[in-house]
Amino acid sequence: MSDRERSTETASGAPSRHGLLLCIETSCDDTSAALVRGHDVLASIVSSQHELHAEFGGIVPEVASRRHTELLNDVVAEALAAADAGLDDLDGVAVTVGPGLIGALLVGLAAAKTFAWQRHLPLVPVNHLQGHIAANYAAGHRPSVAPPFVCLVVSGGHTLLTLVDAGVEFRIAGRTVDDAAGEAFDKGARLLGLPYPGGRELDRLAAQGDAESVDFPLALPTELDFSFSGLKTALLYHLRELPDAEVAARRADIAAAYQDAIVRQLVKKTVRCAEAEGLRTIAIAGGVAANSGLRAALTAACEEHGLALHLPAIELCTDNAAMVGLAAAHLPAVPWPEYLALDAYAAAALADKA
Ligand code: KG4
Ligand code: ZN
Repeated sequence: MSDRERSTETASGAPSRHGLLLCIETSCDDTSAALVRGHDVLASIVSSQHELHAEFGGIVPEVASRRHTELLNDVVAEALAAADAGLDDLDGVAVTVGPGLIGALLVGLAAAKTFAWQRHLPLVPVNHLQGHIAANYAAGHRPSVAPPFVCLVVSGGHTLLTLVDAGVEFRIAGRTVDDAAGEAFDKGARLLGLPYPGGRELDRLAAQGDAESVDFPLALPTELDFSFSGLKTALLYHLRELPDAEVAARRADIAAAYQDAIVRQLVKKTVRCAEAEGLRTIAIAGGVAANSGLRAALTAACEEHGLALHLPAIELCTDNAAMVGLAAAHLPAVPWPEYLALDAYAAAALADKA
């Protein structure tokens, strides 16, 4: 076994199977690079393309891919500088290979292969959802979380109740039957006239409103599944019935009530899942995990039910490359140069429910 392959301890005590990793994430509209050793995040740079896509009201895949090619080298250089490291210090490279926008993923994968191949380094391919879950393992965050636990994964493309058995291995206990939670935020924000991406804007507006001002329906399809499309329609009809002046005056209240309806469903199912599985720890992951209403409501519910809750740092919830490295600590590396044959994938083949 070479020094490179030997597992070492990191400052946080987590195993550093792969040494110092350059990590790349380009699955959607954030160009991101990070330097990670085990569970220690040494640098994390995210260059968001939000403004670029805002004029279209959503992400244009081809525009995202091109922007990743323009930004990635600078973002990698910035991450290396922030970690006070050079390419020769690297022990490996980790990269998101799916699910996501295929063109965007291929930009990151091609770059990762090139960085790794030039230096004869191993490469760790990472699933984006496992990356989101692994954000909970970042060192320096106390208390730390250890499996088994329930992790609610809520992003722009996914809403899953996962049972994390070990590392980043998970089973699915529940999922959305229609829209993802992030989609519900983004579509609701759009109806309320907020700029893209809407989730964060709706969160801000909701903080000034009264969540009890409108009684939006709480969809409860089956035990542990979610549904958000009826809620979106309810918002649409509610706004249609109000005169423009009234909508303008009550936007914060409507936003607060809409957010609350999403959050209540997420919290209810997550707590129910923990109880059904006999698990005492809950964690959350994905862009919607940054939502202040969700964080507050889940904190209160876990207190009430005597459950431990782990909330990742806000900057590790939305897409970032640090989470890719945190997941890589639990995944096997592909040796040089075998990974040159690796491909990206747009959709994850998710197993059936646990
Ligand atoms: O995980 P993520 O960055 O990208 C995907 O993998 O999809 O999640 C993006 C989603 C978007 O729908 C965005 O509006 C939502 O997360 N989001 C939020 C907040 N910040 C980001 N939703 C609600 N409240 C927030 N503070
Ligand atoms: Zn994501």
